[in-house]
Amino acid sequence: MNNQNLLILEPTTHRGIVLLSARELDKMRRVGQLAANLLKHLESMVQPGVSTQMLNDEAERWTQANGAISAQLGYAPPGHPPFPRSICTSVNEVVCHGIPNPKQILKDGDIINIDVTPILDGYHGDTSKTFLVGNPSASARKLVEVTQECMMRGIAEIKPGARVGDIGAAIQEYAEANGFSVVREMVGHGVGRQFHTEPQIPHYGKRGSGLKLRPGMVFTVEPMLNEGTREIKFLSDLWTVITKDKKLSAQFEHTVAVTEKGVEILTLP
Ligand code: MF3
Ligand code: CO
Ligand code: CO
Repeated sequence: MNNQNLLILEPTTHRGIVLLSARELDKMRRVGQLAANLLKHLESMVQPGVSTQMLNDEAERWTQANGAISAQLGYAPPGHPPFPRSICTSVNEVVCHGIPNPKQILKDGDIINIDVTPILDGYHGDTSKTFLVGNPSASARKLVEVTQECMMRGIAEIKPGARVGDIGAAIQEYAEANGFSVVREMVGHGVGRQFHTEPQIPHYGKRGSGLKLRPGMVFTVEPMLNEGTREIKFLSDLWTVITKDKKLSAQFEHTVAVTEKGVEILTLP
C-alpha cells in the first residue's frame, strides 16, 4: 500500500474502480480468512450420502457462529429473483450458482463446487473450490486439477502495471492446451464493501489488453472450465447455470488484492 492510501479512510477510486486503503485491506484479510475456513469446514462434510441442503445449513450455522452473515442469501441483482440459500453448490454439469436442495444427495463420482461469500464488518470474502466426492473418473479429476491450476496461473500474472487481459490469457492458454473450454459469460469481479463491482475479470483474453492493475484493487479470479462446449444454459429458476451439452464443469475462486509488490491472495487458508 502506498503512503497516500495509508492516510485515507474512505476508499479512493481510479477510473471508477475502488482502491482499498490499508485499513480496509485488513478487513478484507479478516473476511478472506473466514471464507477460507468456512470452505475448509464444509470440505470435511463432502461425501456420498450428504445433501447439498445439509452443506447449506451447516454453512449458515457456522457463518452466524463466527459473527458473519451470508451475502448470497436473498441476493437479487437485476434479472434474478432473490437467491434462496446461503451458499452455491454446483454439482457435475452445473457451472455455477447451483441452489442447495434436500433432495440432491451427493454420490460417489460426483464433483461439487461450493462457493461461499460471508460478510464480516461490512466486507465480502468470496471463494470457491471444486471437491471430489468419492472417486470420480480420471477425466473428471483432470478437469478439476486443470481448473485450479488455471486460477493460480491467472493470479500469478497480477502485479501493478499488468493488465486484466494478461490474467484471462494465462487461464485460456492453459485450459485450451489441456483440451478444455472456458466459460465467457461469467467473470471475476471487484469485491469489497460491495459483492459485485467493477472491474470485470474475464477468464479469457489477450495479453497486454484491458485495464492496468494498480495497488489497492481487490477482485476475484474464478475461472469456470468445461469438458465439452463452453456454451451454457440458464435453468428456469433463473440462477442455476449448466453446460449446454451436460458435460462436466469445474470452478475455483480466490479473492485477491493487488499490492505494491505483486499480489496477495486474501482467501488462502
Ligand atoms: N459467489 C458467486 C461469485 O463468485 C456469486 C453467487 S451469487 C448467488 O460471484 F446469489 F448466487 F449466491
Ligand atoms: Co463466489
Ligand atoms: Co465471485
